[in-house]
Amino acid sequence: MQDENNGKGARHHRREILIGGALIGATLASAGSAQAQAIGTMPTPGSEVAPPPKGAGAIKPARGSMLQDKVAVVTGAARGIGRAIAVEFAANGADVVVLDIVGPVSPASNAKPAEPADLAETAKRVRSYGRRCNEIHADIRDIGALRQAADQIERDFGKIDIVVADAAIQRWMPLLEMQDSDWRDVIDNNLNGTANTVRAFAPKMVARKYGRFILLSSMQGKHGTKNASSYSASKWGIMGLMKSAALELGEYNVTVNALIPGLVDTELTRYQARYKNAIAETGNKPPENPSPQQAWDSRAPTVPLQVGWLEPEDISPAAVFLASDAAAMVTGAEYEVTGGDSAKDV
Ligand SMILES: NC(=O)c1ccc[n+]([C@@H]2O[C@H](COP(=O)([O-])OP(=O)(O)OC[C@H]3O[C@@H](n4cnc5c(N)ncnc54)[C@H](O)[C@@H]3O)[C@@H](O)[C@H]2O)c1
Repeated sequence: MQDENNGKGARHHRREILIGGALIGATLASAGSAQAQAIGTMPTPGSEVAPPPKGAGAIKPARGSMLQDKVAVVTGAARGIGRAIAVEFAANGADVVVLDIVGPVSPASNAKPAEPADLAETAKRVRSYGRRCNEIHADIRDIGALRQAADQIERDFGKIDIVVADAAIQRWMPLLEMQDSDWRDVIDNNLNGTANTVRAFAPKMVARKYGRFILLSSMQGKHGTKNASSYSASKWGIMGLMKSAALELGEYNVTVNALIPGLVDTELTRYQARYKNAIAETGNKPPENPSPQQAWDSRAPTVPLQVGWLEPEDISPAAVFLASDAAAMVTGAEYEVTGGDSAKDV
């Protein structure tokens, strides 16, 4: 009993020191930190100001899914995981700007191009939750277009709270058979395009000292991928970008995290070569033209939750959490939704 009280006392004392430290820190910041650091003195008594509220706050029901009146931007929102995230954000109270190229990206993309009607369908689903939705046709490789979009969204919605960098392409091509574009276009689109997205939107968040970036990486950004090296390298690069941006933007209360889906059924993955690779990855010899069912049957026993692949709606709830105020202290982190596939990796 005695020990317990002592423990409580020690914890209380430590908390007081922490609060005192925070007050001093806030005072230094608000009084002009350069001057305060140069002088190296304690603040004058009575000059303490309360630090801005930080942290996830008190427990309340559903706080990990509350996005009421937040303004979100989702790139690659015409379909697939981007669409699911946009609609799930709206279902949880956010207004959403959906951005997509809605056209061909590069001959180095294995997926068929998205169309304007796809983006319009996403917008319709967002609006069906009573939320505002603007559509933007833009290419994430064009940072000028993204900066213009950021200005326009700020004018239209008054702020930007959340940005999901989802747009990407994939290329299956052995290193020994690659054209220059099989490497260059995938890196340019996925890595440079994601960096453009962060660079174009971050100033809006920094100015308001609030923001959430969610960058789509992949399990292929955590290990090598036979015959998809440019995609794998682009997704590893996004991890480096995510962690670096988290280091730089944390002081502005802007979090940056990576969302890491396992294999998900979308246009990115729904074609013969991908099914063959999915079977080959399990150590089985793929037939010449495998059916989706054959790919599922081969993969499912190797995944802890016994699924051949996931659906986009399996991924989007994690994006909602990372975008919510409940995730206030989550940054520089990787959030995996893989059906358990990630349990095999370090
Ligand atoms: N499907 C999976 O198994 C899987 C797994 C891990 C990670 N991911 C990642 O999730 C994200 C979404 O993938 P998906 O499976 O939904 O793909 P998808 O092909 O269905 O959707 C991608 C969207 O991005 C858009 N896009 C691509 N390049 C663009 C550009 N330059 N500018 C603007 N828009 C552009 C496309 O038009 C398309 O609408 C990607 O980052 C992908 O790498 C997917």
